[in-house]
Amino acid sequence: MTSRVLLLERFGTPPRMTERPVPARSPGETLIRVAAAQVGHLDLNILDGRFGILPSLPFIPGTEACGTIVASDVHPEGTLVRIRGAGLGLSRDGGWAEHAVVPDKAVVPVSPGTDPALACCFFSAAGTAWAAVHDVGAVAEGERVLVTGAAGAVGSLVVQLAVRTGAEVIGVVGRQAKLGHVPAGAKAILADDLSAEAVGGPPDALIDTVGGSVLPTALKLVRPRGRAVLIGYSAGREFSVDLADFLLADVALLPINLMARAGNLIPVADRLLTEIASGELNLPIERYALDRLETAVERLRTGSAIGKVTLTTE
Ligand SMILES: NC(=O)c1ccc[n+]([C@@H]2O[C@H](COP(=O)([O-])OP(=O)(O)OC[C@H]3O[C@@H](n4cnc5c(N)ncnc54)[C@H](OP(=O)(O)O)[C@@H]3O)[C@@H](O)[C@H]2O)c1
Repeated sequence: MTSRVLLLERFGTPPRMTERPVPARSPGETLIRVAAAQVGHLDLNILDGRFGILPSLPFIPGTEACGTIVASDVHPEGTLVRIRGAGLGLSRDGGWAEHAVVPDKAVVPVSPGTDPALACCFFSAAGTAWAAVHDVGAVAEGERVLVTGAAGAVGSLVVQLAVRTGAEVIGVVGRQAKLGHVPAGAKAILADDLSAEAVGGPPDALIDTVGGSVLPTALKLVRPRGRAVLIGYSAGREFSVDLADFLLADVALLPINLMARAGNLIPVADRLLTEIASGELNLPIERYALDRLETAVERLRTGSAIGKVTLTTE
């Protein structure tokens, strides 16, 4: 029996669709029939060969996916599961395929009937947003919070969680078309209009998901002894500081590494998945068939995607 896979043969070139025998599992591993897989910025960095952990090639990308158990020592056949971590899509083959063999520890059961496209992608967005608002940003009721990339997958959940905490939220987007996608409860402004006046008073916290030229502009607005949570760099990965200005501003720079925090987020992950599935929290999902990877990648790379981008195999 064969399985369609997307195979990355050279960094900087698109993965190629091909067929391979369904992979064999060893003890301690689980074989999954993949239903949906996330296409995230981390995956794009790996395709480009621009990440601190890179696989040997050829390689099947895909750091997060969802599907059903075909064979496992741990989980019954047919169980719906999501898979991530343990080097999946980073140092070993990932989920951009019809079948995946993964270490048992990368497998997390999800409730039967859950949308596989949602189950494969909610965690990186919602887990990161939760960590940013609560664990790292410690956003409190009544605080003013500035969120960049506020219509993005992570950014829009940051906005929703911060609003729910009782913060006054200002959401920044890079283009006019995104203004209407900043979640309700936040004031939406364009990055080009970002100023102390537009924000309406110094934010206690900045939660930045885009980096690039937006980050230094937003950072300057944060109040002294405020904090800036740094999540992403979709608008640019370079950032420099003038140390004299940085020390004078006295704003704490707080990075988030979801891979290192994933274990701590397990207790809230199921709740976040339930809240998104029920519509209590909103996370739009774009779906593309496995053979439409290039469109999916293009949507994400250009910042045109609204919400998460996924590949589906069925
Ligand atoms: N630190 C961690 O552990 C962690 C975990 C998850 C995600 N992340 C990172 O967080 C960032 C946001 O992730 P996400 O899933 O929310 O992505 P997303 O939905 O694609 O949102 C990213 C936003 O970046 C903005 N952007 C500006 N220039 C862009 C460009 N050239 N290409 C693409 N987007 C551009 C877009 O907003 P505008 O159109 O409004 O400018 C877009 O909505 C990514 O950098 C991702 O790698 C980090």
